[in-house]
Amino acid sequence: MSRTRVTVLISGTGSNLAALLADSRRPDAAYEVVAVVADVDAPGLEHARRAGLPTAVVRLTDHPDRAAWDRALAAEVARHDPQLVVLAGFMRLVGAPLLEAHPGRLLNTHPALLPSFPGAHAVRDALAHGVKVTGATVIEVDAGVDTGRILAQRAVEVAEDDTEESLHERIKQVERELLPATVDTLARRLGATP
Ligand code: GRF
Repeated sequence: MSRTRVTVLISGTGSNLAALLADSRRPDAAYEVVAVVADVDAPGLEHARRAGLPTAVVRLTDHPDRAAWDRALAAEVARHDPQLVVLAGFMRLVGAPLLEAHPGRLLNTHPALLPSFPGAHAVRDALAHGVKVTGATVIEVDAGVDTGRILAQRAVEVAEDDTEESLHERIKQVERELLPATVDTLARRLGATP
């Protein structure tokens, strides 16, 4: 069975990317990471370089406007011919060109139990709200802000003395298991579809 081609989009440290790369090295993994694309010089690109994968940076500031950036990002992703596109800490909303090119094939990991706490400050917002349980969610990306179909979810308890940093790190530990497992399940399903 051929492995599902996955392109990963990142903006940050890329620990979720590293988890995907490690998981995809299992002999029976249903997917392979074929390229990594970032919107900034993300430190996480180093994981891809070390793995010998093609990388690209598509910066908003290199484009005349948001629509041009959206088109450039979609074109860069398309170059790698992915069957799945995974947003792993990609901190920008993606536009119509990428969404329309990969209907139902774009995933995102989010550090909260959606639909609670969507947006860029999910961990801070959950702490501020005083929730006792939060977690991680993998969704299918749609045009909204973290509104897509929920594919997988896991809870994380909030400790009395948690800071945004300590809580986020425990959530990320969960994301690093949940995201690869979800990608593998989806890839397996795609592989089984003629
Ligand atoms: C993750 O918590 C992800 O859900 C959020 O940003 C974090 C990315 O971490 N959007 P990393 O870059 O994979 O280490």
